[in-house]
Amino acid sequence: MKKVNVAIVGATGAVGTKILEKLVERNFPAQSIKLLASKRSAGVEIQAGGHTYTVEETVPDAFDGIDIAFFSAGGSISKMFAHEAVSRGAVVIDNTSAFRMDENIPLIVPEVNGQLLKEKQGIIANPNCSTIQMVAALKPVKEQFGLNRIVVSTYQAVSGAGSEAIDELSAQSMQFENRDSIEAKVLPSASAERHYPIAFNAIPQIDAFDPSGYTLEELKMMNETKKIFGDNEMSVTATCVRLPVVTGHSESVYIEVDKENVSVEEIRASMEGITGIVVQDDPATQTYPMPLYAEGRDEVFVGRIRKDPHSPTGFHMWIVSDNLLKGAALNSVQIAEMLIEQ
Ligand code: A2P
Repeated sequence: MKKVNVAIVGATGAVGTKILEKLVERNFPAQSIKLLASKRSAGVEIQAGGHTYTVEETVPDAFDGIDIAFFSAGGSISKMFAHEAVSRGAVVIDNTSAFRMDENIPLIVPEVNGQLLKEKQGIIANPNCSTIQMVAALKPVKEQFGLNRIVVSTYQAVSGAGSEAIDELSAQSMQFENRDSIEAKVLPSASAERHYPIAFNAIPQIDAFDPSGYTLEELKMMNETKKIFGDNEMSVTATCVRLPVVTGHSESVYIEVDKENVSVEEIRASMEGITGIVVQDDPATQTYPMPLYAEGRDEVFVGRIRKDPHSPTGFHMWIVSDNLLKGAALNSVQIAEMLIEQ
């Protein structure tokens, strides 16, 4: 297999560190791995797979000779450097929302629409973390029974908002224990006018509000799902909520399938045995997915599958996955692996 030169932009961040871990763990055919971050981190050493890597500042010249560049340093950094990296010969796999809805840029979950990857593509977008786990789980259902409606409510972990949000949750938990006043500076989003504590709370705002009343995170889930499934007619609605969970997004998902008289057993069977999906669904033994147990795992977990009592084609389910892995780093590395295979 051809060996490639890799760069990770945002290598010191919550997702960037996982990308490096996944490259090492999966024996990715890397000739070299360059870690890039802000000027603040230049010179910092990071150990992985028996190597010591030294972080460099992200500057245009850093992309010379790079074949694949993973970007996970925020949308503004992607907008600043992704085209630059492409012009110097790299394929960019971008984890931010900067290019996802650009009609010329593929938005890829390999097992769902990997066929859209072409050899030597400029920028490839990695979808939103909540979207990836949902479409990965629903792909076999859609294939067998058709899918025309999704109503999803998310219960999202703080690590999706980066390492500062993880730090804020632990600091606030200590402040709560010590009965100190609770300081909130990061969530719901760093640029928000008001900040609320996340410890012992649930915040029904992820990212900024759109004039429609939806948040940008909710719109990402709605628009990205349609783009990935290649179905603009599908009805998709989302409510996104941040919870005091460090890692692992959970989702309560209501779907309506096209086919009539489908049973819960058939829905369950369509997902069972599919690589990357684990069905954990047995009320008798209280078996269902939970974020605490999904952390560190590559798969998407599905449980609580049940029929809606009022809609003949409606089903409910609970979908959980590690937002930093299948929701971000793993999916990006799988995209890179697929490109190399091609
Ligand atoms: P740094 O650690 O040097 O600030 P997270 O998503 O966990 O918040 O991480 C954000 C990532 O984006 C970090 O690796 C961070 O690097 C990186 N980053 C932030 N600002 C810049 C910048 N101006 N140029 C390149 N990388 C940046």
